Amino acid sequence: MNLLTIYTSSRRNGNSEQLAKHVTATINTAELFLSDFSFQPIKDQRHSRQTFDPIHDGYRDVLETFLQYDTYLFAIPVYWFSMPAQLKIFIDRWSQYMRDPQLRLKDQLTGKKVYLVVTANDEPLEQITAPLVQQFDLICNFIGLELVEVIIGKGNKPGEVLEDHTALQKAAELNKKLLNRAEALRK
Ligand SMILES: Cc1cc2nc3c(=O)[nH]c(=O)nc-3n(C[C@H](O)[C@H](O)[C@H](O)COP(=O)(O)O)c2cc1C
Repeated sequence: MNLLTIYTSSRRNGNSEQLAKHVTATINTAELFLSDFSFQPIKDQRHSRQTFDPIHDGYRDVLETFLQYDTYLFAIPVYWFSMPAQLKIFIDRWSQYMRDPQLRLKDQLTGKKVYLVVTANDEPLEQITAPLVQQFDLICNFIGLELVEVIIGKGNKPGEVLEDHTALQKAAELNKKLLNRAEALRK
């Protein structure tokens, strides 16, 4: 197993990051912080040109790196009942690179596994996070990814999620499952 954790918050060391780090505590993972980049929104040229104009913002290199992994853990804070804009841009740009014959984006993503850690503050937590989870599930279905498990944690100020013992317990259980999976794949 080759795991990449993608942190999508606009701040470092926040709740989503801390909860995700409980999941990966004893597991090797590469890390991608979307807040390190300023990716441009997609410019829809699907129907006006043969190819998209290149955008020189480093996105393609990051996408190539992303594609080297077979398992993804997305750490996502809820922003306005949805995902942070930087994550939405990251996914929107797939529509550009799905048309890049060198990348074969859909082929490369098909069958890969996705895990989500979602944090929010408002109650009821399940209801508040449901639109994002459903949206992510639809995105995964469309591109061929398999959404395996979602862990939801409660917190507002950084660190508050560490008081959500149910979420921490689930993170510890997912840690074990991922360890077992990595072990099984090594054999
Ligand atoms: C722009 C913005 C919008 C937010 N919208 C919501 C929301 O709709 N529902 C909610 O429960 N929390 C909302 N929050 C709170 C965050 O989801 C919460 O603080 C989360 O734990 C932040 O994760 P982080 O510390 O990893 O950034 C919002 C925070 C920001 C900055």
